[in-house]
Amino acid sequence: MIALVLSLFAFFFQSGWTGVNERTFIAIKPDGVQRKLVGEIIRRFEKKGFKLVGLKLVKASEDLLKQHYWDLRSRPFFSGLVTYMSSGPVVAMVWEGLEVVKTARRMLGETNPADSLPGTIRGDFCVEVGRNVIHGSDSVESAQREISLWFHQNELLSWEDNSRRWIYE
Ligand code: RTP
Ligand code: MG
Repeated sequence: MIALVLSLFAFFFQSGWTGVNERTFIAIKPDGVQRKLVGEIIRRFEKKGFKLVGLKLVKASEDLLKQHYWDLRSRPFFSGLVTYMSSGPVVAMVWEGLEVVKTARRMLGETNPADSLPGTIRGDFCVEVGRNVIHGSDSVESAQREISLWFHQNELLSWEDNSRRWIYE
């Protein structure tokens, strides 16, 4: 029910997030924060050319995480996943740009770090699926739902990116 309400909200209020205004939700998981990967990960998204529109350090509640990973609720690793994700601070971010959802997933690598190519975040910085340092939305619809879940509208900043004309034709 909550997921349905959030999806409807996202559909009506955020359907303008397309083209260069597409947005994705990225979270550096507690292991990424503990392992001091925050700067490195943000650097990769900045250098790629994406625009940061939301950023905060959050100690996520189990309730929030259960909603976030609702689709995985029947999987055997679900409760361990919620415990892991609530075990420390998470860096929650919203990044914007053309095809940012798909591109961010490629920058992250595969769910299992062992399947992730070198050069990807999971390929370079982690070993095990249950400690894979970063989350990225898997579709535009998921991104809209997750951004609504993690951020208030007034936490997403509208600002002029002066490098924009050097990134887009
Ligand atoms: P994420 O949502 O965190 O970006 O990861 P993902 O899309 O690549 O993978 P997903 O299937 O959504 O799984 C979410 C997270 O659950 C943990 N997981 N553990 N023990 C396992 O077999 C297992 N499978 C998944 C991982 O932390 C994964 O990122
Ligand atoms: Mg996922």
